[in-house]
Amino acid sequence: MPRIAVVPGSFDPVTLGHLDVIERAAGIFDQIHVVVVHNPGKTALLPIAKRVQLIEQAIRAAGFPSNILVTSWSVGLLVDYCTEVGASVLVKGIRSQVDVAYETPMAIVNRNLAGVETIFMLPDPAHAHVLSSLVRQVASLGGDVTPYVPRVVADFLEQPR
Ligand code: PNS
Repeated sequence: MPRIAVVPGSFDPVTLGHLDVIERAAGIFDQIHVVVVHNPGKTALLPIAKRVQLIEQAIRAAGFPSNILVTSWSVGLLVDYCTEVGASVLVKGIRSQVDVAYETPMAIVNRNLAGVETIFMLPDPAHAHVLSSLVRQVASLGGDVTPYVPRVVADFLEQPR
């Protein structure tokens, strides 16, 4: 049985920190499913389909291994997706204690719901300050986001919309 891990998130937009976690996870598990999920607690910038496309393009441009699939999930709990594809692990990037506090209750609930374990992955500290919410804000105010996101994302955000 291939060991499948899910890397979930809003990815609005995907950042260099996200890519770092995805690459590290792909080196540990047989298959990685990057799953874009709508987070009702956040005001979205990009449609889900666009987020999926940008992640796919960024992964291709970075030359990541071919064991990474990018998709979205909107019909129920994240653990339902895990059950459907046979994934028993979620991988979450952790930048700081703030992320630990945010992720821990979700990890416990997901384990209680379906026995899905969560692994906390430390990205390169160079990305510790990179937040999608800050990228959204900087981009919307005309600032330079190239240090924080893949080239395809920066190019897309720079286009007039
Ligand atoms: O990038 P984010 O916004 O921090 O990701 C949070 C996300 C989307 C992974 C989380 O909100 C989630 O898992 N949503 C799916 C709905 C669900 O299963 N909720 C119960 C989780 S405890």
